[in-house]
Amino acid sequence: GGGDDAGSGDSGGGGGKITMGFSQVGAESGWRTANTKSIQESAATAGIDLKFSDAQGKQENQIKAIRSFIAQRVDVIAFSPVVESGWDTVLKEAKDANIPVILTDRSVDSQDKTLYKSFIGSDFVLEGKKAGEWLVKEYEGKPEPVNIVELQGSPGAAPANDRKAGFAEVIKADPKFKVIASQTGQFTRTDGKEVMEAFLKAHQDIDVLYAHNDDMGLGAIEAIEAAGKKPGTDIKIITVDAVKDGMTALAAGKINYIVECSPLLGPQLMDLAKKVKAGETVEQRVVTEETTFTQEQAKAALPDRKY
Ligand code: AHR
Repeated sequence: GGGDDAGSGDSGGGGGKITMGFSQVGAESGWRTANTKSIQESAATAGIDLKFSDAQGKQENQIKAIRSFIAQRVDVIAFSPVVESGWDTVLKEAKDANIPVILTDRSVDSQDKTLYKSFIGSDFVLEGKKAGEWLVKEYEGKPEPVNIVELQGSPGAAPANDRKAGFAEVIKADPKFKVIASQTGQFTRTDGKEVMEAFLKAHQDIDVLYAHNDDMGLGAIEAIEAAGKKPGTDIKIITVDAVKDGMTALAAGKINYIVECSPLLGPQLMDLAKKVKAGETVEQRVVTEETTFTQEQAKAALPDRKY
């Protein structure tokens, strides 16, 4: 179907106003806070009535929220899936109810691509590759083994799976790169710090930390300093996101390299929602534009960094 009721103002929102149900992952990181703000602000600007729900990191909460959006008959459902798998049933329910779904930030592993209209977000595998490429360059011409510890994002999340895979793919080209420990830090500062403490106790010879986001890297910096080592010098640090706190640590020499992941998905999401509601065909995949930052580049970018 789709499109035959366009303009009839049947959404219950009054005056044909679009109603969007949005299920957010949680508030685990600086990135997530910036993402939530972007979505709320751009909904207001676009005149979209946003029903915002925080899943507190739990897939079951997201499924409940989506079912409640279906029951309320919102015009569009958007969400950033906590984990990649296990969405087919609830997505099918939305489809059967004729409510379009847009994925933002993270995707699902459903084989049936008709279960959602579009996915807007980063290429997380590419982000992992960029992290690996910096490392390969940094240790070019140095034959000694490089001992790496990795702080993974929350288990089963697309950015955790993909950032791990992309990084591994690049560094496997040279056997001197050894991932000696890899564990989840849940994308949070607290867990990043705790797990890094354990890594430092178990291993005397850590050369590099690769953290799947800034927050875990920032937590790890506290652990490294508490252990009497110098982050950025004794242990080189690569992170992903480039939120303000991460960029500040990078400019201060405590992080060595950050791969950007942009949280500012709100404006494009609202745009897509309007098009979908109007019955227009939209691109199945919209990839976020992003860059990378060295310490010098962070110094230059910091004054204008909005989040
Ligand atoms: O899905 C994006 C990731 O989720 C961000 O990189 C991380 O900080 C957040 O928690």
